[in-house]
Amino acid sequence: TTPVILDVDTGIDDALALMLAVRHPALDVRAITCVAGNVDRDQVVRNTLGILSLVGAPDIPVGAGAAAPLVQEPRPADHVHGGDGVGGVALPQDGRTADGRGALELMRAALEAAPAPVTLICLAPLTNLALLLRAHPEAAARIGRIVWMGGAIGAGNATASAEFNAWHDPEAAAVVVGSGIPLLMYGLEPFYQAAVPAGAIDELASSPDPVAAAVGALLRRSQEMGAGEARLPFPDAATLGDAGAVAVAIDESLAACTEAPVAVELRGELTRGRTVVDLREAAVDLHGHAQAPHRAPLRHTTPGAATTVVTGVD
Ligand code: BDR
Ligand code: CA
Repeated sequence: TTPVILDVDTGIDDALALMLAVRHPALDVRAITCVAGNVDRDQVVRNTLGILSLVGAPDIPVGAGAAAPLVQEPRPADHVHGGDGVGGVALPQDGRTADGRGALELMRAALEAAPAPVTLICLAPLTNLALLLRAHPEAAARIGRIVWMGGAIGAGNATASAEFNAWHDPEAAAVVVGSGIPLLMYGLEPFYQAAVPAGAIDELASSPDPVAAAVGALLRRSQEMGAGEARLPFPDAATLGDAGAVAVAIDESLAACTEAPVAVELRGELTRGRTVVDLREAAVDLHGHAQAPHRAPLRHTTPGAATTVVTGVD
């Protein structure tokens, strides 16, 4: 099993991702850290503890992390996830509270204690990880790789240019993308492509199993709130969202990937938070289709960090 730490802003799709990660035998979830994003940090902690209670994982420590991005104010996504982050789906609360160490110390200790290099699965703005790398640069050596749901090759969702997690804390995204730690970017292309059809949602929602029923209820809310998202592969689907990134962390053969330099735009007036993915010398184009190698040397290169970018999923 692969030791992992999850960093989340639970959120409907983070909730699905947590369930998959905790329940899947290939992953050994050693800690979960919470950050402001879809909803405020304390609500993220409550939602995360609720999901762990639901799936019967009372021993995984949960750390409260940053309550705001590095330089700007939080900008929650309640229009996508509801005011409580989970679309009003009732989650059990078993009285457990967050680990007293907080996210940074919890991450540091979990990295230190893991029997092998850890995969960090980051499904949220990257504030916590950026702060960790600043405070404890030596911790980077214990991170095998980062799987990040964030960014986009093409159009954004928070703005025309930027994906929500990158847009919410662009400075943090720039620190992490530029850190030199092996990075798999699961951006908006696979994010919307990996989706659940309406029939499967109905089936889950009416299951007598409380966990399956909760998955169905969460997908139903996502289906309702994501209605009209043109990038979904079929009508009335719900995206797996962050859970798709967990699936790829479990089995990379599910994903088509290409290597490309990636940089985060920090100053653009209309493009702040955009992940600039330079595909000019990549083996595929924007749609993941094979393209002939670039013949002439590039005159103007992108000062991006070498990144494995997911272009699509099966
Ligand atoms: C990302 O933003 C959040 O709303 C989702 O949980 C996901 O991590 C998609 O842009
Ligand atoms: Ca998320």
